[in-house]
Amino acid sequence: MALRQRVLRSTGSPLNALLLIFNIAILLAIFFFQWPIPWSPTTVHCEQQVEVQVHQPPPSPGKQLPYAFCDTCGPGDALCQQYGAHNLARSRGYEGSNARLRRVLRDAERGRPIKVAVLGGSVTNGHGVKPDQNWVNLFGAWWNRTFPRSELTLQNGAVPATGSDYFSMCFGEHIDRDADLIVTELAVNDQRIESNTEAFEWLMRALLELPSQPAIINTQVFGLAYSMLSTGGDLHTSVSQYYDVPHISLRNVVLPHLLQDPSLDRYWFAINREGVVDHRHIGYNGHRALADLLIAHVQRQLCALHDSEEPVQALDAELPAWSAMEAVPRLRMMEPYDTQTVHHPLVPFCMSTRTTRHPLVPVSNDGWANWTYRGNRVKPYIRATIPGSKVSFRIVVGAMGRVRITYLKSAEFGLGTIKCWVDEDEARGVKVAGHWDWKGLNTANVFVVARGVSQGEHVLTCQLLEETQHPGGGTEFRLIAVDAA
Ligand SMILES: *[C@@H]1O[C@H](CO)[C@@H](O)[C@H](O)[C@H]1NC(C)=O
Ligand SMILES: *[C@@H]1O[C@H](CO)[C@@H](O)[C@H](O)[C@H]1NC(C)=O
Repeated sequence: MALRQRVLRSTGSPLNALLLIFNIAILLAIFFFQWPIPWSPTTVHCEQQVEVQVHQPPPSPGKQLPYAFCDTCGPGDALCQQYGAHNLARSRGYEGSNARLRRVLRDAERGRPIKVAVLGGSVTNGHGVKPDQNWVNLFGAWWNRTFPRSELTLQNGAVPATGSDYFSMCFGEHIDRDADLIVTELAVNDQRIESNTEAFEWLMRALLELPSQPAIINTQVFGLAYSMLSTGGDLHTSVSQYYDVPHISLRNVVLPHLLQDPSLDRYWFAINREGVVDHRHIGYNGHRALADLLIAHVQRQLCALHDSEEPVQALDAELPAWSAMEAVPRLRMMEPYDTQTVHHPLVPFCMSTRTTRHPLVPVSNDGWANWTYRGNRVKPYIRATIPGSKVSFRIVVGAMGRVRITYLKSAEFGLGTIKCWVDEDEARGVKVAGHWDWKGLNTANVFVVARGVSQGEHVLTCQLLEETQHPGGGTEFRLIAVDAA
């Protein structure tokens, strides 16, 4: 009885159900003829039976394909034809239920306007490729072609040399809070350190809990210029699974092959002005492949959407229903189990030099100035060079009680140390060093300057110190953002 109910539910119409039962009968017939059983005729006869069954085409339900690419690796499935089913399978690091994505795709098909927003680093910001070669725009162009009735708003909120730690509190400075689909590319911008698991988790929670309940897809690129082939992206994978966020990886497809043939780096990576391969930034071929792998995933969900009117439900009440798939887990994965805790959605406060929404503007300032690196408009800072320079910002602290700064860390720019404190609490101020010994890595870093701060308005003050960790005595400091939650 349960089987029959299930068959009816999953197929929709009695005719389909009959066909399915007929198929099952054939399968059972094959099964019993395949295995010699005591009362069966000779094996020769049995093989003949099997052959007849295999060559008979299955009865066709005569269903029209909603899209040409829904013939699963057939002639209409251009991406499978191009990449091979094996590579598409490898690209799907975590496939997920895609409950939210399918809802957004249905809306797009119905002609509702859709906002797709992207968070990422310099790859996504387009370093080394022309705008029309950027994976974001390739994906957007495909979306436009696929949903001609739905107006697409595409927001590229990538910030070079910045990772999940910054975005977890400052994403709202770079993308709209009413996005329908958010795609991230943060694997190589995060170092493989445990705190980045937590940062990425905060980011996922905050995005999933936005009022628009957006669908999220984590894409991952890779680089050959880091201390390991494994980067923060390998920590994000666990978070992706916990939050049922699909994860599409370019590395899974390309890297094993590139390791066999190192000359392929010129094919996959960008070539800089000196003609040298840039092992930090994929080139056009990499961007195109990432877009294609992402598109192949979305196409698969579109086809699934049309497979059946209603998703097949679980039989047991102990298993979650399809309707539970959009929910955000009650507890964070980086905290212990309990039965009571309920987290309220985080609405972080952020002021950043990398945005026009809430620019990092001081309430009082002595010696700090707006400054950009070699006139590079994408990397603005608030900078001081003279010890004693002091700057203050008005901040709004939330339930978390935490205040942080984002600043540049580098071995090369002669960076010094600052001391920061909240309100009049200078005695409990903390020192933050801009210098580190990591040569060749100049990147935004985040530091917690206060915890346990009461909810509400406060003032954060930072002062440049005489002391420095830079061997050459450098005392420059470059601030990027201030956040609180
Ligand atoms: C999508 O179509 C809109 C409207 O025609 C256009 O403005 C936009 O540039 C297109 N986006 C992409 C990424 O092609
Ligand atoms: C940076 O420029 C903005 C806008 O002109 C200004 O309000 C702000 O005070 C400047 N910041 C510093 C540190 O001088």
